[in-house]
Amino acid sequence: DAPGPLSGRHAVVTSGPTHEPIDPVRYIANRSSGKQGHAIAAALAALGCQVTLVTGPTRLTDPAGVDTIHIESAREMLAAVEAALPADIAVCAAAVADWRPAIEAGQKLKKQPGGALPPDIRLIENPDILRTISAPGPSRPALVVGFAAETEQVLDHARAKRARKGCDWIVANDVSTGTGTFGGDDNAVHLIDADGTDSWPAMTKQAVADRLARRIADHFAAPTTK
Ligand code: PMT
Repeated sequence: DAPGPLSGRHAVVTSGPTHEPIDPVRYIANRSSGKQGHAIAAALAALGCQVTLVTGPTRLTDPAGVDTIHIESAREMLAAVEAALPADIAVCAAAVADWRPAIEAGQKLKKQPGGALPPDIRLIENPDILRTISAPGPSRPALVVGFAAETEQVLDHARAKRARKGCDWIVANDVSTGTGTFGGDDNAVHLIDADGTDSWPAMTKQAVADRLARRIADHFAAPTTK
C-alpha cells in the first residue's frame, strides 16, 4: 500500500446499483452509476488505506490499487461485504435495492396468448447491508459511514436513517429529479455525525470523496476517536 495517514487500515466500500432478477433476462435496478462509491474507494487508497470495493454492475473501470469484487444482487453484496471483514472502516455508498422479486422465474416469463393480464411481481425485502454491519459485535468496523438518498426533508430523514441503521456517520444527498445526483459528476452532501451536521457546497463526486477520505483519516488520527 502507498504510505499515508490510513496506512495499515482496511476499508470496505460498496458502490453502484444492485440488480434483482425477475427471470433469466430481466431485473429490477436503479440509476446509480457507481461514480460516488468508486471515487471514495480511490480516495481512501490514495491515503494509504487497503480498500476492498464491492460493486454492483457499472460501466466504470476498477479503480487502480483497489481490490474490486463484482456482484449483482443485494444478497451477493452482503455476502461479499461479510467475507471482506474485518475492516476498520466501512463506507456504504451503493444504491442497494430495498426489495427483490419474491420468485425468480427459472425460465423467461412469456406473454400469455389471448390478452391475459401481465404477471404480478410480488416483492420481498432485501437484507440491509449497512444495518447488518453496523450492529454491535466483534466484526463491526470501528467507523461505519452510510449514505442517505432522499427526495424530501433530506436532513430529517437522514438523521432518522442514521439512528435506525446504527451507523456512525451518514452522508445525506438530495436525489430528487433534476439534481443529477444519481449518475451525474457532482454532488452536494451533508455529513451528519453524533455532533451535528456539516453541509458541504456542491462539488464533484471526486472532491466529495477526497474530503470524506481526509475526514476519515482525521478521525483515526484524533487522540480520542468518537
Ligand atoms: O452511483 P452514483 O450515480 O455516483 O450516485 C451516488 C448515490 C446517489 C447512489 C450515492 O451518493 C448514495 O446516495 N448512495 C446511497 C443510495 C441509497 O440507496 O440510499 P438509501 O437512503 O436508500 O439507503 C441508506 C443506506 O443504507 C445507504 O448507505 C445504502 O447503501 C444502505 N443500504 C440500503 C438498503 C439495503 N438493503 N442495504 C444497504 O446497505
